[in-house]
Amino acid sequence: MTVYQATASAPVNIACIKYWGKRDTKLILPTNSSLSVTLDQDHLRSTTTSRADPSFQKDRLWLNGDEEEIKDGGRMATCIKEMKALRRQLEDKDPSLPKISGYPVHICSRNNFPTAAGLASSASGFAALVASLAALYQLPTDASRLSLIARQGSGSACRSLFGGFVAWQMGERPDGSDSYAVQVAPREHWPDIHALICVVSDDKKGTSSTSGMQRTVETSTLLQHRIKHVVPERMRAISEAILARDFDAFARITMQDSNQFHAVALDTDPPIFYMNDVSRAIIALIVEYNRVAIANGGKLRAAYTYDAGPNAVIYAPKENIKEIVELIVKYFPQADAFKDPFGVFDGKGVTG
Ligand code: DP6
Repeated sequence: MTVYQATASAPVNIACIKYWGKRDTKLILPTNSSLSVTLDQDHLRSTTTSRADPSFQKDRLWLNGDEEEIKDGGRMATCIKEMKALRRQLEDKDPSLPKISGYPVHICSRNNFPTAAGLASSASGFAALVASLAALYQLPTDASRLSLIARQGSGSACRSLFGGFVAWQMGERPDGSDSYAVQVAPREHWPDIHALICVVSDDKKGTSSTSGMQRTVETSTLLQHRIKHVVPERMRAISEAILARDFDAFARITMQDSNQFHAVALDTDPPIFYMNDVSRAIIALIVEYNRVAIANGGKLRAAYTYDAGPNAVIYAPKENIKEIVELIVKYFPQADAFKDPFGVFDGKGVTG
């Protein structure tokens, strides 16, 4: 008996130009393009195994060991349906292929980081799901093609199908066929950039990205300015900075975009606050660290960015990471442990 099973894993990505707002909530089409860095750490990944078998009664899913319902017409069901459809196309073209597209699938996914830590588990989760089904179905598709499907699981997931520096082009077509991810540059292009993650709080966040961004679309006037007059130019400038390995420009744009994302959250009715006092204190520390460098005739040495929660991600050239960790430990003495000086700062106790 042949076993049809495959495993794939995908990492978390952290946006420098934030995706915030959908023009189509069903297809997950964004109101602006976005750009992220895919983290290449082994300990920030989702790993997913998919198995197709004619004896299974229905599609089922386990997340970190617990079974989750696959809701009809929901995001998970859509991704599975789309992947089965791609397999069916192959089977129709080549009748010698086993007809596994008709079998129910069992999917088992695990994150090797706490889901509640406020890191983008939906991004790595849906990217790993789509990658494992692509392997199961032996689809000859490229990552951009797969990103069209991962996008319908969670917008930011489309960017996790690539490593390195990745853009999600918003596209224009109503069917979403031109809204996919492309690699701006591979990780090896700029290996000197490192990300430091400061876990300020591992509480479940208050307002989910999905509902928060929709409220912003409905109520914020600042968002309209952002999507029309700010993001297009920033996408161009940050891509150029990445290609030129220009950290000063990369850092400036990254911090500006994080600030504007939190400004549109605040401009939402009722307002959404994702950062807390510790988040703001870390911003002050990085601002001061950069100010001293510039006062001495230098350039920006670090960039902060915050997603829909209080945790800080700090991008910096490798040579500065040790100094930044020392500064954080000095000003946030509860910051007890970090796993990897050039990787994840996992100071659970960074509470101020
Ligand atoms: C602030 O991709 O989680 O992290 O598409 O509704 O699943 P859905 O939203 P999601 O939003 C991510 C928002 C963000 C910015 C970003 O990653 O670009």
